Parts: sequence; structure tokens; C-alpha cells
Amino acid sequence: MEGTFGSTRVVLVQGDLTQQAVDAIVNAANPSLLGGGGVDGAVHRAGFVIHTVGPVWRGGDRGEAEVLASAYRESLALAEARGLRTVAFPSISTGAYGYPLEEAADTALTAVGGFLRAGSGLEEVRFVLFSEGHLAAYERALGELP
Ligand code: APR
Repeated sequence: MEGTFGSTRVVLVQGDLTQQAVDAIVNAANPSLLGGGGVDGAVHRAGFVIHTVGPVWRGGDRGEAEVLASAYRESLALAEARGLRTVAFPSISTGAYGYPLEEAADTALTAVGGFLRAGSGLEEVRFVLFSEGHLAAYERALGELP
């Protein structure tokens, strides 16, 4: 599934983040940046990376949505500042950090869509979702964006 925000394509695919032919991949890291499990373990074994730390879910009233949106926006800003054209994201915070999938998908796509609509040199932002269920949640969220 695809959408267009400003002049940037947003693409949703099911797959392994570390196997994408993009300029940079964004990692769902922890504050130590030393590697962990999940997507972080796979990324540390793979290549050039933007490390971002998503929020740990604590029920939803601790600013989690704003922290998650910021993780996406700051990663995009860094990719742009480096002159990159394509960047791939995992579903940040929806594994070990426990963020509810449907809410994370809405927040992620709203943040990325808003950032790109303000004008971006990026050609493609790809979300690489590990499971069919994750892909379906992100497809629903993309389809429902105004
Ligand atoms: N490619 C794409 N997605 C993946 C991959 C992969 N190779 N491996 C795991 N995922 C998915 C998971 O299915 C989940 O939906 O990435 C999503 C994020 O899950 P986590 O990797 O657990 O990340 P997060 O919830 O942000 O927690 C971060 O986990 O590994 C530790 O060091 C990391 O402490 C940090 C915490």
C-alpha cells in the first residue's frame, strides 16, 4: 500500500527492516544504543543506522504519543539533514516497549504524514512491518489519514 504526502511517497511493506535497499534504516533502540533484542538486535548486525528511542508504554497518559511522534519526526529530520533520499522505519515501540499497535500506527503515520506535507526532499519513506497483523494495522491507519 502507498500514499503521497507533499512530494514524498510513503510505502507500507511486510518484511525484515535489515534487508531493505534504502539509504538509511531507523532502529527502535534503547537509551544505551548498545543493542538489545527485537529489531534492535537485527539492526546492530546489519549496517548504517539512525538510532531512535521510542517511548515505553505506561498506559497512555505519560506523553507517550508525543514522544513516539517525535521519534519519527527527528529521524526524518536527521535523514534530510544528511541528504538521504530513502529511509525505512520499523514499527517503533510496539514490541518490547508495549505500545498498543493500532494507536502506534495512527501516531506514526500522522507524524510522518505531517512532517512530509510541510515539504521534504525525501523520495520515499518505507515502513517495514514484521508481521501481517502489523502491516494490516498500518494499512488501516494510512487509509484513514485525512
Ligand atoms: N524488521 C522489522 N521489524 C522487526 C524486526 C525486523 N528485523 N524485528 C522485530 N521487528 C518488529 C517487532 O515485531 C515490533 O513490531 O519491530 C517492532 C518493534 O519491536 P522491538 O524491536 O521490541 O522495539 P521497541 O518496542 O521499540 O522496544 C525497544 O527493545 O530490543 C530492545 O534494545 C531495544 O530496549 C529496546 C527495546
